[in-house]
Amino acid sequence: MERLLYHFFICSIFLHISFLPLQIQGQDLDSKVASFLKKNKSQWKDLNVPYEDGQTLFDLIVEHKYTSALEIGTSTGHSTIWMAWAMSKTGGKVITIEINEKRYREALKNFKEAGLSDFIDARLADAMELIPKLVGPFDFVFSDADKGNYKNYFELLHPKLKKGGIFSAHNVREGYYGVDDFLQTIKNHPDYETTFDTKTRAGISLSKKID
Ligand SMILES: C[S@@+](CC[C@H](N)C(=O)[O-])C[C@H]1O[C@@H](n2cnc3c(N)ncnc32)[C@H](O)[C@@H]1O
Repeated sequence: MERLLYHFFICSIFLHISFLPLQIQGQDLDSKVASFLKKNKSQWKDLNVPYEDGQTLFDLIVEHKYTSALEIGTSTGHSTIWMAWAMSKTGGKVITIEINEKRYREALKNFKEAGLSDFIDARLADAMELIPKLVGPFDFVFSDADKGNYKNYFELLHPKLKKGGIFSAHNVREGYYGVDDFLQTIKNHPDYETTFDTKTRAGISLSKKID
């Protein structure tokens, strides 16, 4: 019995020591990302989401343990950084698409500075051309590019979205130019339950695939 307890004791110490570097790595990454986001909180100037909306994306991904995200419209990377930070918790990755080369290059720099490049697959492309080529499946989509294409993005991604996954879209409050068709589609779609996060002026639609 004593021998068994001794072995148990040695094994627990060994396990504790083996996982310690991972815990420290995680803590280091958290403080690196948090200080990057804090430092840049009021500096974003390329149509980036507000800090609070980034936090909403992070919370959703972590809460549902999503691991395969797609973002349409990277800009300089604010929302991607929140999503990738969440992916560092769930063990997943986010693909993000941007058509503007200057913003794409700036985003790459930001991802590196935040310490999150390993969790991001950034593509310089027109989303309408690239999405049909992406295999998926995805469990979280964030649409934040050209509003007139929101409905097209939704229709292209519907077959690639996992059941239980969410198709989210930014700037969907009543009166936002170009989103009416999209809103009609998601509100009436029998396979989705749609709610709205209205913490900020922009608003985020959250359409959960139920069937
Ligand atoms: C509102 S901004 C995205 C902000 C970003 N999500 C953030 O919070 O940092 C929209 C971006 O979508 C890009 N965009 C517009 N049309 C696009 C398309 N067809 N394919 C890919 N990106 C596109 C724009 O160049 C712009 O940078």
